[in-house]
Amino acid sequence: MSNRRVLTGITTTGTPHLGNYLGAIKPAIEASEQPNSESFFFLADYHALIKCHEPERVARSTREIAATWLALGLDTDKATFYRQTDVPEITELTWILTCMCSKGLMNRAHAYKASVDANRDAGNEDLDDGITMGLFSYPILMAADILMFNAHKVPVGKDQIQHIEMARDIAGKFNHTYEELFVLPQAQVDEETQLIPGLDGRKMSKSYDNTIPLFCSSDELRTLINRIKTDLREPGEPKDADNSTLFQLFNLFADAQESQSMRQAFENGIAWGEAKRQLHEFLDAKLSAPRARYLELMNDMGAVEALLLKGADKARAEAAPLLEKVRIAAGIRPLTYVAPKADTTQAKKKELSAEELERIEEGRRRAILRPVQHLIDAVIASPDQAAAAAALIAQKEQDLEGLKKKAKQKAENELEALRAELAQYL
Ligand code: TRP
Repeated sequence: MSNRRVLTGITTTGTPHLGNYLGAIKPAIEASEQPNSESFFFLADYHALIKCHEPERVARSTREIAATWLALGLDTDKATFYRQTDVPEITELTWILTCMCSKGLMNRAHAYKASVDANRDAGNEDLDDGITMGLFSYPILMAADILMFNAHKVPVGKDQIQHIEMARDIAGKFNHTYEELFVLPQAQVDEETQLIPGLDGRKMSKSYDNTIPLFCSSDELRTLINRIKTDLREPGEPKDADNSTLFQLFNLFADAQESQSMRQAFENGIAWGEAKRQLHEFLDAKLSAPRARYLELMNDMGAVEALLLKGADKARAEAAPLLEKVRIAAGIRPLTYVAPKADTTQAKKKELSAEELERIEEGRRRAILRPVQHLIDAVIASPDQAAAAAALIAQKEQDLEGLKKKAKQKAENELEALRAELAQYL
């Protein structure tokens, strides 16, 4: 297996906009064209149900996002492109992982905490008001999305980094408890593509209502571009290209020469109206070919559906054998199952690369430290970190005495991990 397996999903609740294209879809398609890479891209439709209870909207968004990837040239022979709900192994894995995930880990998830905070701020006595179990345990579904395909890299926006870390924790817990079956994934965050400005200059995002739909009509595109915020500089006055949303959007699609000549026009005091006209003409030209393909695909859902089902077959060919191993590792087995000889797993261990071993070791360490993370946090927060660290280690050393063999081994492992974690204070 290559160690460049890339996986990412898009939740099917909205209409794809320029930010989705530049920040996620375009880099993903480009990466999928690299030799030696293996890409898994999917429509996260079960994720849609977490925040959207409008069936028509979910269904429409699923069509739009599927057609968008294809219109932008995704090669479905190279990448595995599928709809989450066509791969039931993912939801089955979700349950197994749910049983590996401490509730405390989910209590710390940003999305859940934000909802609790919103209830508190609104003076609501019930802090969990309006919060579904779907929202609460959503990072586990996301972990299953990723771990089911043993992805190494997960390109995401900053807001998703915590979820990838949770997927690592959950994978580490499974590997530690049962068998080393999961790769510990890493988030891949591209700072540059995080900064795509929307109509009001803030990050382009559905939640700010400042998006430009990727495949809106040429007229709609003009109307939206005319809404882009500008300053009060008059025609003829030099303008600051780097602080202009208009220029930034232009730049994201421009080659070096186009970018330079627009920058020059800004310095020469191009009128805002004229700059908007030029941006519209430029974007419209760039988008017209994929837009035409998109409209064709939107009128041929049978073809898109067929491609997705083919993608699901490819995805399931990967997922099913791994899920089988996972079930067996956890004890869900045919009644007639006989374990293979132990030395086959030994042989497999020898084949692991140094990088994989390091990842496994890190997972083990994190699993050991998780129950004492609050103690580590307390040391870090303490005004005298050295004293707090020394006291904690002394306490743990004392605890060792009187423990029985198995519990003692566990406590010793914990102590060793704690010493490593707090080394800088000791
Ligand atoms: N939760 C992600 C988002 O809101 C979408 C998503 C679902 C995802 N499953 C994933 C992204 C797995 C990467 C990998 O953006």
